[in-house]
Amino acid sequence: MKLARTFLYIILGPVIVCSCIPSGRDYGKEMYEEKCANCHGIEGDGLQQLYPPLKNADYLEQNQDKLACLIRFGTQGGLVVNGVKFEGKMEGQHLLSDVDIHNIINYISKNINPNLKQVTITEVGDQLIDCKE
Ligand code: HEC
Repeated sequence: MKLARTFLYIILGPVIVCSCIPSGRDYGKEMYEEKCANCHGIEGDGLQQLYPPLKNADYLEQNQDKLACLIRFGTQGGLVVNGVKFEGKMEGQHLLSDVDIHNIINYISKNINPNLKQVTITEVGDQLIDCKE
């Protein structure tokens, strides 16, 4: 009995301690910088006529409810952002999980385009079920 309890402490101790120390990592930031910033820029400014901005982007603000689908399945065929027409293609990021997409969206709405609202993982999950490719 005593042995079992000692064993439990050895297993659970590090788990409890580790989960209490904040890791200091911002997964949304890491993901954004790895998966989006190449084209849309670290600050979300976009790149001339090639890549649309995310910062102060009217298109994104009007289509926030489609952002999760846009990240997973990409978009093409052209769109107008702040009066500028873009005729490119964005590939879908099929390997990102719902959680990754959730982290990216909230990173963007917190740091790049504060006109967007924060979303819950449930909202993102519901949106991804209804995506039209
Ligand atoms: C390889 C370049 C590339 C990458 C990487 C990329 N995009 Fe895009 N993105 C584009 C292009 C090009 C368009 C415009 C597509 C069109 O013209 O139909 C676009 C359009 C958009 C739009 C709609 C227009 C706007 O600016 O409001 C959003 C939102 C967006 N991308 C978000 C993201 C996010 C979030 C990521 C990271 C998960 C990402 N993109 C990764 C190239 C890219």
